[in-house]
Amino acid sequence: MGNVLELADVRKSFRPGFIPKKREVLTGVSFTVAAGEIFGYLGPNGAGKTTTIKCVLGLVFPDAGTVSLFGRSPLNPRSKDRLGFLPENPYFYDHLSGREFLDFYAQLSRVDKTERAGRIDRLLRLVGLERAAEQALRKYSRGMLQRIGLAQALINEPEFVILDEPLGGLDPLGRKEIRDIILGLRAAGRTVLFTSHILQDIEMICDRVAIIVGGRILSQGRLSDLVSEKILFTEITLAGVDDASLADFGDRLQTREGRTLLKVFDETRVQPLLDLVRERGGRIHALVPRTQTLEDIFVDTVARR
Ligand SMILES: Nc1ncnc2c1ncn2[C@@H]1O[C@H](COP(=O)(O)OP(=O)(O)O)[C@@H](O)[C@H]1O
Ligand SMILES: [Mg+2]
Repeated sequence: MGNVLELADVRKSFRPGFIPKKREVLTGVSFTVAAGEIFGYLGPNGAGKTTTIKCVLGLVFPDAGTVSLFGRSPLNPRSKDRLGFLPENPYFYDHLSGREFLDFYAQLSRVDKTERAGRIDRLLRLVGLERAAEQALRKYSRGMLQRIGLAQALINEPEFVILDEPLGGLDPLGRKEIRDIILGLRAAGRTVLFTSHILQDIEMICDRVAIIVGGRILSQGRLSDLVSEKILFTEITLAGVDDASLADFGDRLQTREGRTLLKVFDETRVQPLLDLVRERGGRIHALVPRTQTLEDIFVDTVARR
């Protein structure tokens, strides 16, 4: 199906304030987003995520490198027809109702009058706001505003949706709602790029990720390729065996209410430990093999800089 977006060695410097010296905010960013995938753009605050997105939208012009959106320059207005966008901190007019807000953007995107009402109803349903449609936006919670913003980003039925920190400032339930909508978009054949500094959200739903730190992509690829299945260690919670006998199996992390939490790095020591517990008439309360997570990679990559 090809790539919806390609960035090759994109560089951008800004001159902060009145200081004459420029600071490079993007130092050669390259990645591609393939049609039909959820692409996660992960990085700490200030890493350059929003600046990258501005380059993709044609709001900022790179000093060097190329951006290709649907095979065209972002400055080509035709590439925007197929694009939906939710900015990082969208501003909403307090006094409009959810429906009026969407209707305004539908008109801006020149959605045909005969189609407008039906499409707005569908979108309100998609983001779970049909019951709040007539309420003024000032009465919306943060999560509701994020969802109406998402509906606005979808008003032109875009093939490709770019969401800048769509999960920002939301509680766990609100985050799940947005994640589910994003998954629904992929199921409907859309392509999604979203940024986040919260890696659990990226880990849960993205097909591929790029990790940006300090304007540089440090790691990218399929989650399954980045995160190995290798067991790093096994955490075993047990009772009925004295700490001294456990010493040569692994690191004792804590003993609380008679239960000991042991971290076993050597996989071949797990079975002998279980045998010992049985011999002594002890109990195993939990056995958790820990594989590598995106968090490990993130922490590693940031530490390696
Ligand atoms: N227009 C600008 N002028 C000067 N500096 C900027 C401008 N836009 C962004 N920056 C700087 O670039 C860096 C990256 O910002 P940004 O792309 O917003 O990061 P992120 O979205 O990952 O948090 C920050 O240090 C920010 O202060
Ligand atoms: Mg940002």
